[in-house]
Amino acid sequence: MANAFCSRFGVSQPIVLAPMGRVAPPELVAAVSNAGGLGLAPLLTDAPDRMRAQIRRIRALTDKPFGVNLNMDFRDDAQLDVCLEEGVEVISIFWGDPQDFTRRAKSQGAKVIITVGTSAGARRAAALGADAICAQGWEAGGHVEGKVSTMALVPAVVDAVGDVPVIAAGGIADGRGLAAAMALGASAAWIGTRFLAAAEAQTHPVYLERLLAASEDDTAHYDDLYDLVWPNAPHRALKNSTSDLWEAAGRPPLGERPGEGDVLATRPDGVEIPRYASAVAFAGLKGQIEPLPMWAGQGVGLVTKSRPAKEIVREIVDQARRIIDF
Ligand SMILES: Cc1cc2nc3c(=O)[nH]c(=O)nc-3n(C[C@H](O)[C@H](O)[C@H](O)COP(=O)(O)O)c2cc1C
Repeated sequence: MANAFCSRFGVSQPIVLAPMGRVAPPELVAAVSNAGGLGLAPLLTDAPDRMRAQIRRIRALTDKPFGVNLNMDFRDDAQLDVCLEEGVEVISIFWGDPQDFTRRAKSQGAKVIITVGTSAGARRAAALGADAICAQGWEAGGHVEGKVSTMALVPAVVDAVGDVPVIAAGGIADGRGLAAAMALGASAAWIGTRFLAAAEAQTHPVYLERLLAASEDDTAHYDDLYDLVWPNAPHRALKNSTSDLWEAAGRPPLGERPGEGDVLATRPDGVEIPRYASAVAFAGLKGQIEPLPMWAGQGVGLVTKSRPAKEIVREIVDQARRIIDF
């Protein structure tokens, strides 16, 4: 396929598995890469040793390109060292200043994708030498950098960065979304929420059930609801009992919130998760799941069943091809 994104990254389908912290295990990353897309592993919370093991596990499951996502608010040079030592093909950089990580990664031959929420951010990313730019619109699930919708952001970013391939993110959940993104000038779609319902995802069953039942109106964008652990990082999640409690109290700041200090769940390693923590409801948690953050984009209304990742990739591409030639 002569597509700027596919030829630059050596993949056959213009689909990126959005990195999704704790819910996208090596099996999901590899499944998307094996289906011809680009799987991105969300390893930002892993210590370097565990990260190395995760990268090796993905490599054991696929001989296709994949990438690792790093977050500049939690930057750790040792993590980038591990990625480069392990020969990871693609480094995806999210949040904060990507400058030195981009330089280091590119000097070692890795390709870099920088996520942005404005055309000014895209211009800076292109000037740094990004190999592709992820334009993340406001509809997106999880942490969202900008306030501009995908429909307005993607063409603005395309116009700003010349030949650099643009990947559209936010609210894309089926082939109609992929075709629309391409009509706006993107050369691929970066998809998160739809893959939360992949058979390989580690989405807690309570979270999955809520996702499959949700409509496009069941998410909200919050500047600071789940700001324990990661402050100053706006996010989009399914509305739930925690957001109801907080809204009913008049959206008070941390320190004055109802239920603050409640321990809601416990991770398999014994770490306790308090209310308002930026800690997604992944499988393996024990306790109250519904009050935890259940990140989701506005495309959630299109997510109605769980199925293997390779079928999701195939269905999205086939549907897009019936609409647009690529
Ligand atoms: C459950 C979940 C976890 C996420 N975790 C990350 C992450 O660790 N790193 C990152 O760059 N983006 C993360 N995101 C944002 C995605 O990369 C992407 O921008 C978003 O999912 C696209 O919108 P969509 O959910 O409407 O497809 C996450 C999104 C979700 C839904």
